[in-house]
Amino acid sequence: MRNIYFLIILLFIFILQKYPIINAQHEALARLWNVPDNEIDDLIDRELDLMDADLIVKQNLVDEEYSGSYIRTTDNNVVFYTTTETEVNEIRNLSDVIPINHLLTFERSVNNLSLFDLKTRYKNLTRLALQYNPELVAIFIDVTFNNIVIASYHGFDEPNREFIDEVNRQFVNPAPVFEYGNLPNTNEQHKLNAINRRIIQTLIENGDGLCNLNQDVTCSIGFWARRNETNENVIVTSGRCYRFEQEYFLKPWGSLNIYNYIGRMSRISSHHKTDVGIVSIEGNVRPTRIIRNTDSPMYPRINTYGKTTRENDYLGIHSCKSGYFTHLTCGYLRSNEAIYFDAIDPYKISYVINIENHIYDIGGPVFTFFESDKAHLTGILTGGIGNIGFATDIDSILMRGD
Ligand SMILES: *[C@@H]1O[C@H](CO)[C@@H](O)[C@H](O)[C@H]1NC(C)=O
Ligand SMILES: *[C@@H]1O[C@H](CO)[C@@H](O)[C@H](O)[C@H]1NC(C)=O
Ligand SMILES: *[C@@H]1O[C@H](CO)[C@@H](O)[C@H](O)[C@H]1NC(C)=O
Ligand SMILES: *[C@@H]1O[C@H](CO)[C@@H](O)[C@H](O)[C@H]1NC(C)=O
Repeated sequence: MRNIYFLIILLFIFILQKYPIINAQHEALARLWNVPDNEIDDLIDRELDLMDADLIVKQNLVDEEYSGSYIRTTDNNVVFYTTTETEVNEIRNLSDVIPINHLLTFERSVNNLSLFDLKTRYKNLTRLALQYNPELVAIFIDVTFNNIVIASYHGFDEPNREFIDEVNRQFVNPAPVFEYGNLPNTNEQHKLNAINRRIIQTLIENGDGLCNLNQDVTCSIGFWARRNETNENVIVTSGRCYRFEQEYFLKPWGSLNIYNYIGRMSRISSHHKTDVGIVSIEGNVRPTRIIRNTDSPMYPRINTYGKTTRENDYLGIHSCKSGYFTHLTCGYLRSNEAIYFDAIDPYKISYVINIENHIYDIGGPVFTFFESDKAHLTGILTGGIGNIGFATDIDSILMRGD
């Protein structure tokens, strides 16, 4: 057993911003929150305050006492879902909760399931799924539904029939929620009007495409890392893009042609159910810590500053990704644990995000902004079902033992 550690590279490229702040909605976060671009920074700060409030209340509660919480940044509010047993007045009267009462709402959960009940159901359903190994199915808790969600495609109902029947037999009152996505379209012409002519071909920005020579595999570049033992620079992406002995090339946004060789991908075992692909850097390309956001006139490059120190313990907050096909988009964090079965293997998921995504975006960086042009990496996109995106946590990649 050999341990391989990856470190995030700590070099920055600073870009001077010369554009005036205008009253417009160019940024993905502004569109998510439906505010002008110049209000993004205020809302990011507000979201951080709401995360603090969320944590204060949660530290006073055990899973049996409530049904989970969800941050609504644009409403400046954290919703706590309650069962009939939740002592709302006692919680509101706690000395550290009194000062933040104006940020809290308590709402009865629809199925009266406590967070403990939800987690037990989730564990049981996961165990059942691992027995049946269904295809293109994801399972996670949705606290706003107060239920477990099984996401899939209608086209896979038949191959997954035995699993679905068993779920319906074992899980009643309430039955889990089934959600279906539309099958992905792979029409490349879709975003071609977004070509940026000033692309420097040899500079890799995270979120750029990555493909093999005949382009039957297209994914996105996650981030630049370094093998701890050998100091070798590598590109982290999704192991789901791995093909035996293929060479991988840079495929910048809007480009259908490939010019720059990057390197080969190591064979990645999915033993730990962690999705990761490591590409060596052999070609004449330079990785950066920049996330591509070329659609934005003001912030075409987002700088990344390592990982956030916060736990992945908040729902409803913004979470964004950058990828070859749908570019930089943002959504709301919906669940912080899931299991995702693709056509072959099950994967552990740490971030379930309601976000526009596409199979060519797989491998791209997932991050949260702490300023309009600065972000903390939280992971890589590993898949999606319709507009539900699944991300692998950066910690499980950086400290991977294999
Ligand atoms: C709130 O707590 C204080 C003591 O900490 C107590 O005196 C008071 O009766 C409580 N109020 C309510 C509404 O529970
Ligand atoms: C709601 O759930 C709690 C346990 O979390 C239980 O004690 C209570 O009886 C339930 N109430 C109703 C109305 O079902
Ligand atoms: C989960 O499984 C355990 C043991 O198999 C069982 O006792 C429990 O009732 C199940 N709970 C739910 C909510 O399915
Ligand atoms: C990386 O390597 C250095 C020395 O080679 C060592 O001190 C450090 O603990 C290693 N980091 C991790 C995360 O293994």
